[in-house]
Amino acid sequence: MAVADSLRQRAAALRRGLERHNRLYYVEDAPEITDAEYDRLFAELQRLEAEHPELAAPDSPTQRVGAPPLTAFAQVRHRTPMLSLANAFSEDEVRAFDRRVRDALQVEEVDYAVEPKFDGLAVSLAYRDGVFVQGATRGDGTNGEDVTPNLRTVGAIPLRLPQAVDTRELEVRGEVLMFRRDFEALNARQRAAGHKEFVNPRNAAAGSLRQLDSRITAQRTLRFFAYGVGEAPTARWRTQDEILARLAAMGFPVVKDRAVVRGADGVLAYYAQLGAKRVGLPFAIDGVVYKVNRLDWQERLGHVARAPRFALAHKYAAEEQETEVLGIDVQVGRTGVLTPVARLKPVFVGGVTVTNATLHNEDELRRKDVRVGDTVIVRRAGDVIPEVVGVRLEKRPAATHEFRMPERCPVCGSAAARVAGEAATRCTGGLFCRAQRIQALLHFKGRRAMDIEGLGDKLAEQLIELEMVASPADLYTLDADVLAGLERMGEKSARNVLASIERSRDATLSRFIFALGIPGVGEEVAKILARHFGSLEEFLQADWEQLARDKESVRKDNAKRKRRGEALEAVPLEGIGPEIMESVRQFLEERHNREVIERLIAPAAGVRVRAEPRAAPARVARTFVLTGTLPGLSRDEAKSLIESRGHKVASSVSKSTDYVVAGDEPGSKLERARELGVTVLDEKGLRDKLDKL
Ligand code: IVH
Repeated sequence: MAVADSLRQRAAALRRGLERHNRLYYVEDAPEITDAEYDRLFAELQRLEAEHPELAAPDSPTQRVGAPPLTAFAQVRHRTPMLSLANAFSEDEVRAFDRRVRDALQVEEVDYAVEPKFDGLAVSLAYRDGVFVQGATRGDGTNGEDVTPNLRTVGAIPLRLPQAVDTRELEVRGEVLMFRRDFEALNARQRAAGHKEFVNPRNAAAGSLRQLDSRITAQRTLRFFAYGVGEAPTARWRTQDEILARLAAMGFPVVKDRAVVRGADGVLAYYAQLGAKRVGLPFAIDGVVYKVNRLDWQERLGHVARAPRFALAHKYAAEEQETEVLGIDVQVGRTGVLTPVARLKPVFVGGVTVTNATLHNEDELRRKDVRVGDTVIVRRAGDVIPEVVGVRLEKRPAATHEFRMPERCPVCGSAAARVAGEAATRCTGGLFCRAQRIQALLHFKGRRAMDIEGLGDKLAEQLIELEMVASPADLYTLDADVLAGLERMGEKSARNVLASIERSRDATLSRFIFALGIPGVGEEVAKILARHFGSLEEFLQADWEQLARDKESVRKDNAKRKRRGEALEAVPLEGIGPEIMESVRQFLEERHNREVIERLIAPAAGVRVRAEPRAAPARVARTFVLTGTLPGLSRDEAKSLIESRGHKVASSVSKSTDYVVAGDEPGSKLERARELGVTVLDEKGLRDKLDKL
């Protein structure tokens, strides 16, 4: 049975009415009815369409509630690419841009259409015969994602264009974003529901738009501003200004704070004006955009790479705000580095509410002298971590104390120590500290360390997260049944993992030392240590201060011997500098690490560390020169390797050079070597030679 005409007419009237109210609310910001009245009309239309499915239409406002979830987004190819913009940060750069434009056009003066640079996501909206048919994200500029169902839920996007204008085919470009107040409300809801909060309106808008379930998008208040067009074969417009005026007339939201201005002075004045209004805008902007107004001139200017020559984004400096330091916490990262973090009285800056700001490290903290109770200036730009710029000393309360980095790791209680030659303070309990567990285990089981082949990164992380493993020693007492019960495991893979753990019980000293993950101790240094000490017992009992003194005295003696032309004595631990020695000392001094090592070699875990032949000192010291990049050794590693065998590394080639080791892109040293007839080795040649010498 055909639907009665009266019902058809009622549905059409409801649609027109609802779309008008949508526009009044989202585009003109001047609603005429209350939300409750809107909801009542909406429910009536929904009921009509449900009872008479033949009344449903893709451009009906009821489509804005979202559609059943997708499994993936389809790709959309942008026939007109979605370009990026060149950036400018200073007046000079802006003037240079204007000069380039005038020179290229051979004109005296240029009018620019100027607009805010919205801090949201670019989208492209395709209309056919006046109906919204497809919407896509920018993607890489050439291919984007089809997010049509999500964009339908955005109230500010017209689903149908007025018939009066020629809109047989039209692609509108613009920005999807979230107003600050809608962002705050969303986060309040997220908080109440125990969900994760969004860091800023841009991320919230991106997360909402890229939902496979558009019903979720429908619950987020997204906005849209049009700033241009893509494919528009039937359009006849002459300026950017005219495009925006026509889009506004079609019912698209177009920002009010736009203008057409003349020359560099004009754009700079606009930049300053909008800058002053920026914090008062309901949405975030990160700059302004200048576009040559005349479209024929835009065409003449064309593009470079991915950006048009006719447009420029002039960015605002990072926003700064004042707030109070409530406390200073110390966080421990995966690598054991301690980072002081200021806990702040919440402050809205750079588009987000900031409650923490990094103080980087002890030196920075000292330099800025940030104290609990201080009023500080906080800065945030884009997606970067907020930071404390400085203290308002004139506002410092009477009784404050200079902050001191803790002497113990706040996570595990191990000693915290400054890394020699660096600004970082590090927890020395690398094998024990909860914050460093994942890192320590991934390193320990690695191919170049204990080489536990069957234990993948994912499984290692899972073992830590489930607290089945707290330190590498726990690997060796894992239970087969418990392991088999893990996600994606099963008996066979559990057996494989245990077999490769079993194989790793037999380790060379150098691998074992490397596996401990001592800061600064790479494979080569581990080899030098292993050759020097010969056994784990010797290594653990070493007197590091004595060693440092020995090293120093041999070095002094050698200097004398050299002057006298005598043979040189081998320097103990040649190739290992004082910083690394200090790092090893600190690591082994930490009781917690010792306990883990003891557990590793105790019968229950049963790791057997094989002694390594001690290095025989080189009979005759040779001189090597390094040039270019070696495939498997860094410059420092190659140097340590050579020096550990009692040879020398010189920086330039001369008649007394014995070997030049050349890698990729060698410098003039290689030419010099050829001139002088010096033997040239590659990395493998170097290793072979060192074994023979
Ligand atoms: S025009 C031909 N106008 O900036 C240039 N873009 O860096 C195409 N953006 O992905 C862009 N506000 O998301 C233009 N008023 C504005 C803009 C704007 C923000 C974004 C847009 C684009 C990015 C380019």
